[in-house]
Amino acid sequence: MPGRDHVRSLFDWLAPNYDAALLTFSLAQDLRWKSVLLRKLNPRAGERALDLACGTGLLYDRLARRLGPRAVVGLDVNRRMLASARRAGTVRQFVRADAVRLPFRPATFDLVTAGYLFKYVPLDQLARELRRVLRPGGRCGGYDFSAPLRETVAGRTYDRFLHDVLPQVARHWGRGDEGWAALMEFLGLITSTSGWETRIEPELRRAGFDLVELVPSLGGAITWVWARLPDGETAALDSPVASVPPALKRTGPERPLEPRSGRGPAG
Ligand SMILES: C[S@@+](CC[C@H](N)C(=O)[O-])C[C@H]1O[C@@H](n2cnc3c(N)ncnc32)[C@H](O)[C@@H]1O
Repeated sequence: MPGRDHVRSLFDWLAPNYDAALLTFSLAQDLRWKSVLLRKLNPRAGERALDLACGTGLLYDRLARRLGPRAVVGLDVNRRMLASARRAGTVRQFVRADAVRLPFRPATFDLVTAGYLFKYVPLDQLARELRRVLRPGGRCGGYDFSAPLRETVAGRTYDRFLHDVLPQVARHWGRGDEGWAALMEFLGLITSTSGWETRIEPELRRAGFDLVELVPSLGGAITWVWARLPDGETAALDSPVASVPPALKRTGPERPLEPRSGRGPAG
């Protein structure tokens, strides 16, 4: 896991250009990924949501359009990323804090989202905090870059794209600013070595989530994570993995992750 200072200086540097860089380097796929996230989580009128690692507020804005700005809180550890989000003007509630030490009371949110956070944080702490701030039946969803599955053609292709093509594109895009190539090299390295995608499921189950789905996409280039808490407060924090039921099912990201209580359609 990269040091916090490294991550902080990375996003200090990136903040003013983050939105354009994300669009370019994800080949505009990120717009679609955020839509998939919202479709799957299916926010409903009356629900409260927390967007972890909200960055410049790209996902926050979409959540706020669905639920209303008062129902959504954006949280990020980086002052400059939050400053960019505030400048965008559409957002209302931002908090600067660490995703693994959330300044909220237990059972505050129905939904938690996290875009590109998992590779940066201790997953055991994150899972416990998710469990704590979500209401019974609460659901969370997120995605991040993950190690390509080299046994697949898509995975091998993406691996080359990540390690060979992207740093070159970044060099060109940055017009001589070596920071861009360094950023892409860092992302390539952390993506292939973090291993978050193999560690997160047991941590979520240990924390008490009883439905956890991991869905790799684009040859493993990104992995989706979906999780839901049981309706009652049944599983204790730190309960052993073996005591938690195995995955209930593995649905695709297109199928909404319904709250247990099965409330009415989206508002
Ligand atoms: C790539 S940006 C993602 C922004 C946004 N979620 C999106 O999908 O566009 C990653 C964000 O994670 C934030 N971050 C990294 N570590 C964090 C932590 N421990 N707690 C909160 N935010 C963190 C960074 O400051 C940065 O804004």
